[in-house]
Amino acid sequence: MDKKPVESTPLLEVKNLQTAFSINDSWHNAVDDVSFQVGRKRIVGVVGESGCGKSVLSLSVIGLLPKVNSQIRSGSVLFNGKNLTRLSEDEMNDVRGKDISMIFQEPMTSLNPVLTIGYQLQEVLFNHMNISKAEAREKSIALLKSVGISRSEKLIDEYPHQLSGGMRQRVMIAMAVACQPKLLIADEPTTALDVTVQAQILELLKEIQESNDMSIIMITHDLGVVAEMCDEVIVMYGGKIVEHTDVDTLFYAPKHPYTKA
Ligand SMILES: Nc1ncnc2c1ncn2[C@@H]1O[C@H](COP(=O)(O)OP(=O)(O)OP(=O)(O)O)[C@@H](O)[C@H]1O
Ligand SMILES: [Mg+2]
Repeated sequence: MDKKPVESTPLLEVKNLQTAFSINDSWHNAVDDVSFQVGRKRIVGVVGESGCGKSVLSLSVIGLLPKVNSQIRSGSVLFNGKNLTRLSEDEMNDVRGKDISMIFQEPMTSLNPVLTIGYQLQEVLFNHMNISKAEAREKSIALLKSVGISRSEKLIDEYPHQLSGGMRQRVMIAMAVACQPKLLIADEPTTALDVTVQAQILELLKEIQESNDMSIIMITHDLGVVAEMCDEVIVMYGGKIVEHTDVDTLFYAPKHPYTKA
């Protein structure tokens, strides 16, 4: 197999992806023949009505589909040219957090309530880096500072419930970018937050994207977020991609009826 130089391979290339759920012994496609690419340092929005497959698509990419009743039926997810759908669970654990990270809509469900913020952040670092406890603590404090938490020396020993929603989402972002992944998938990262906090979090994501040369897949219901943040946008409908254009084209000349609406 000839190897293309890294820069000419897209960061992420999803090809003919089909992900299905097993319901009463038959398969139902939630993601149906989806193909798209995410270039380096690009922010790609994914929009579409509730249930159209946005979350299932991101879980397929990062390998976190519920194993009991779902599976990737066909297609591939190439990250830097490497097919992630072929990786073992161990190999995928290696990719997750280091190369690709995800932040979820409701940070309370993804932070462990009985562990301190510092413990959870250091766990991510230990997974992918060979560092001492003291180094991990120092790095965690610096990471929390970098996401705009000024009292991070204190906060590191606190528990998730002691933090506001906006603070928790900042912690989630710190965890997601701790190992400087090249791709961040953000599934409705600000929906649970009030408008001013939402704007601050989006601003923070944009800053990190620029300083880390990261790409983002930004799932959102909010076309304002798309206009503000994204370079291109994918519109999904019924498990399929019905439109994929740069953001300016979407707002001036939408093609699909859903987009127009
Ligand atoms: N655990 C599951 N078991 C069975 N079907 C599921 C499961 N999770 C999702 N689905 C189905 O997959 C389809 C896509 O769901 P998905 O969660 O990706 O939608 P979404 O676009 O993220 O919606 P929302 O905007 O509401 O978050 C839906 O028809 C949904 O019913
Ligand atoms: Mg969803």
